[in-house]
Amino acid sequence: MNEKPVLVGVDGSASALHAVRWAAREAVRRGRALRLFHACFLPPKPHVPVALPRDYRDALLEQGRQWLGEAADAVKKVEPEVVIHTDLRAGVAADLLVTESAEAELVVLGSRGLGGFSGLLVGSVAVALAHHGHCPVVVVRGKTLESEPPEGGPIVVGVDNSDNCDAALDFAFAGAALREVPLIAVHTWTDLTLEHGWPVMPMQLDYRLIGEDEARGLTEHLAAWRTKYPEVEVIERSVRDRPVRGLLKAAEAEDAQLLVVGSHGRGGFAGMCLGSTSQGLLHHSSCPVAVIRS
Ligand SMILES: Nc1ncnc2c1ncn2[C@@H]1O[C@H](COP(=O)(O)OP(=O)(O)O)[C@@H](O)[C@H]1O
Ligand SMILES: [Mg+2]
Repeated sequence: MNEKPVLVGVDGSASALHAVRWAAREAVRRGRALRLFHACFLPPKPHVPVALPRDYRDALLEQGRQWLGEAADAVKKVEPEVVIHTDLRAGVAADLLVTESAEAELVVLGSRGLGGFSGLLVGSVAVALAHHGHCPVVVVRGKTLESEPPEGGPIVVGVDNSDNCDAALDFAFAGAALREVPLIAVHTWTDLTLEHGWPVMPMQLDYRLIGEDEARGLTEHLAAWRTKYPEVEVIERSVRDRPVRGLLKAAEAEDAQLLVVGSHGRGGFAGMCLGSTSQGLLHHSSCPVAVIRS
């Protein structure tokens, strides 16, 4: 079978186990195998100030094997039928996962791991994959670090009415079709803080007309996907808000199971890997976030 698997990062954390269960369900939905992956960082000898016991590396690898075993057990409880491959590798997690993402249908990660510090909103491996992954990346989040991610609700997709979000739209429509849930397409249209110009140069803006124009733009932009996925119920929301706030509000109000965004939008600069909206959502969403590179 040369169909790419769903790849999930395992590091022994509770957050990674949430990701593992989410990935198992996603693998079943897509009819793909699930690849449980742990990268074990073995410190190179010159970097260690004291002589390490000879079996130190073996102990680290054994720990990794145990974590992969726990992850496989967690999968069997939620999706006993899914085909599991486990993969224990020596090296730097972010680096290896970025490389392996080229051979994956989707990479799924917990929002946090065993490292970091209390108060950190999203871990460095998750951020690295969102920036550099070669396939869609899902960072699994819930209301708190301990809570399971929400399930069963609609999917929310962020639409900036430019071509930059077309890959995200395709992913979101396909996801809604597979799950048979509604898709809420949210377009926010005040990423500029226009009001701040007023004291300098007072201007009269007809927000009603602007709003109508933006809503029309959203409808036009979605037309092709409605045709491609006629079975998906689409709810259009064109809102006068800034992107991160508008998308978080929509996802929370609707109890969404997934927020889908492109890796970057109309702002940004050449060479930028991840736009500010995607970054904001990765840090603050209460449901899983999918970042789709076009
Ligand atoms: N060594 C690793 N091997 C495989 N996956 C990992 C590894 N470390 C982290 N991950 C994945 O990345 C997610 C986020 O962890 P990370 O970014 O390292 O956060 P933190 O900084 O809190 O440790 C984890 O839940 C897990 O899915
Ligand atoms: Mg870590």
